[in-house]
Amino acid sequence: MDESEALAEARAGLAAGFADLPGVAMDGFDPRIAEVLGEVATRLHDNYPYFHPLYAGQMLKPPHPVARLAYALAQEINPNNHALDGGRASSAMEKEAVAEIASMFGWQEHLGHLTSSGTFANLEALWVGRQLAPGKTVLASSQAHYTHSRISEVLQLPFDSVATDERGRMDVDALGARLGRGDVGMVVATAGTTGMGAVDPIAEILALRDRFDFRLHVDAAYGGYFRLVDTLSADTQAAFAAIMGSDSVVIDPHKHGLQPYGCGCILFADPSVGRFYQHESPYTYFTSDKLHLGEISLECSRAGALQADLT
Ligand SMILES: Cc1ncc(COP(=O)(O)O)c(C=O)c1O
Repeated sequence: MDESEALAEARAGLAAGFADLPGVAMDGFDPRIAEVLGEVATRLHDNYPYFHPLYAGQMLKPPHPVARLAYALAQEINPNNHALDGGRASSAMEKEAVAEIASMFGWQEHLGHLTSSGTFANLEALWVGRQLAPGKTVLASSQAHYTHSRISEVLQLPFDSVATDERGRMDVDALGARLGRGDVGMVVATAGTTGMGAVDPIAEILALRDRFDFRLHVDAAYGGYFRLVDTLSADTQAAFAAIMGSDSVVIDPHKHGLQPYGCGCILFADPSVGRFYQHESPYTYFTSDKLHLGEISLECSRAGALQADLT
């Protein structure tokens, strides 16, 4: 069996679940659709071959075949995980996938969901941090992703950067000195910087949290999946293990999780931060009075097909 046969068989299985829907008279396949598809295929030649297993020009591998195929399959339904009514099955899959991601960091209890990107997931982390410490400064290393200074700007939070050591990791002494000024609400540690792959010394940063009262967010958008690798240096392994003690983590399934774009994930250690998301939207929440994904996410519509491919 090859990929297209596997997809055809799964599509038939999916269709069987909806076999008793009334038939609808269609005028047949419009040949202009094939024309448009052909044109799109030709225009897509203007790309580097990101999908090819030997292509190494990007920092990421192509999506796993099962992720691509499951996405294509679920796209037939086009579920929307904004509300349970928009995507019951894929919402259940999202919760399972998020729980598995949380368990990578040793979290059984957590609040989390998938997002369209690492940027949006980080926005939610910093937004929750702002609810808890309005007006306080966000600190990240000079090697952190530029998204943190921009998100701070959007949230109207002061932002400052902390020097790094010769390996591109946050300098803990510099951090300690900066924290001493007393205006910091949140520290962003990076587990895998975009430029150098450096992992900040998270255990040492956590030790500072005992002295200075701040929230620790770990941006593991790029490096998070390396938590599963057991050949890292001892200090890097220790830093990954320490993520367990952080307040929030971002990890991107659409990076080393080998999922198609766009799929980020935000996790909070304390489920009670869900209170900040509370809002009224009677036109989307009909069938369940349980807290569901649309109520713990800043984004509204989200492709449920993505959650299906993660499962
Ligand atoms: C460490 C880190 N954080 C955040 C981001 C932003 O993620 P996204 O491109 O999914 O918005 C990236 C992207 O490369 C990253 O490497």
